[in-house]
Amino acid sequence: MSMSKSPMVPAAQATPVQTSSARKASTRTALAQAASAQTGQFSAGATAPRAASAGDADDKADTAGIRMQHIDKTYPGSPSKALDDFNLDIKAGELVVLLGGSGCGKSTALRALAGLEDIQAGRIMVAGHDLTGVAANKRNMAMVFQAYSLFPHMTALQNIEFGLEVHGVAKAKRRTIAQEKLELVGLSDQAGKYTQQMSGGQQQRVALARALAVSPRVLLLDEPLSALDAKVRVQLRDEIRRIQLETGTTTLFVTHDQEEALAIADRIGVMNHGRIEQIDAPKTLYQRPASEYVATFIGLTNRLPGDCHDGRATVFGRQIELLAGSQTGEARTLLIRPEALTLSVDGAGGVGASYDSGVSGSVAADGAGVRARVEAVHFLGALVRVDTVVVSDEWQRWNDGNPLTVTVQLQENELPMGVHIGSKVIVTPRVIPALAV
Ligand SMILES: Nc1ncnc2c1ncn2[C@@H]1O[C@H](COP(=O)(O)OP(=O)(O)O)[C@@H](O)[C@H]1O
Ligand SMILES: [Mg+2]
Repeated sequence: MSMSKSPMVPAAQATPVQTSSARKASTRTALAQAASAQTGQFSAGATAPRAASAGDADDKADTAGIRMQHIDKTYPGSPSKALDDFNLDIKAGELVVLLGGSGCGKSTALRALAGLEDIQAGRIMVAGHDLTGVAANKRNMAMVFQAYSLFPHMTALQNIEFGLEVHGVAKAKRRTIAQEKLELVGLSDQAGKYTQQMSGGQQQRVALARALAVSPRVLLLDEPLSALDAKVRVQLRDEIRRIQLETGTTTLFVTHDQEEALAIADRIGVMNHGRIEQIDAPKTLYQRPASEYVATFIGLTNRLPGDCHDGRATVFGRQIELLAGSQTGEARTLLIRPEALTLSVDGAGGVGASYDSGVSGSVAADGAGVRARVEAVHFLGALVRVDTVVVSDEWQRWNDGNPLTVTVQLQENELPMGVHIGSKVIVTPRVIPALAV
């Protein structure tokens, strides 16, 4: 058997709603087949239950480190590679997020790991074993999709039990495991509820419980939160991380949402054109991006002019360190985070008189800084973001004749008194390393 290529449409929704007691044996086989596509667990299906897959102590004791090496994947008829020399190592117990825009190959990478996509080149190792040619149902991995893909005519408990049944787990054990997993996802009190009566967030918890019920060696999550509203998304994301840490399950999580990635990952791999452009801890990725793509994909960034030599740049009169991978030369573009800038009110030091004459703006106490005008002030609770436009003549031509806009982010209590739309300010870089491109 193989998983449905399109798990978005649960097959069971096409079957008539019926109670489990009324199910006939033939229906059961059909359901089991649908379940293999639905439960997100790669079992061998009803005809060949896999021995001792659930709670398999050996599998759990095994270190579940993953190594994907030099993977190439081209879909039939496609001119370009969906995976292009894709490489990824995941340590046992680690949660790695693949982050990237639509179509960059995230799902393909996850499905290749699951054994749901043929690959043209490369090798997949789990716990030191070569799984490259091994069928999906022999990989002991479980998956949760964006769509809840539960059986609507079964209760939460029955959905999980049925997943276990498909895996050949003895009847006596099913209920205990299912109840245990429902408790893990905080749904003990909903065990008897039909999943079609549950909210999206609850359904996704059931899907997660069902995936975890078979004690998979690897948990795969493909945009599991994308269909949920913002508040539930945040709650469930934190729950997934808590459970993942509690169970120690090696996990690959795919999302296009940078905030989600930053919040839950041990490491984030930023994908672009079928490969990982940079993989690092969230903080490193944010503070030390290795490329323009990564810097602009995660967080906000200003593009400011600077002269770059010998590992240092001069930006608006201030010297800062350059990150590895930076370009060098005159008039390069520095990628600078809004919080790596500060501002003061212009005129405080008696320089305001020259403001309208357009002299260049080396006017901060140490001679650094540029004159700007405030365009907007956004209060974000503890933080405040100030959009400014540079007014010094010196920089007017730099941005192809367009105004040079600079966004500054401060702690709310750092915002000088009297800064509002139209205020004249001096924007000054803080001494924080940046990437030159
Ligand atoms: N079944 C398929 N047949 C043909 N092309 C596909 C198929 N699935 C994905 N692709 C293409 O492969 C590329 C990567 O897709 P995918 O892995 O789904 O990206 P992501 O999950 O990052 O949005 C895209 O260009 C997409 O159009
Ligand atoms: Mg996808």
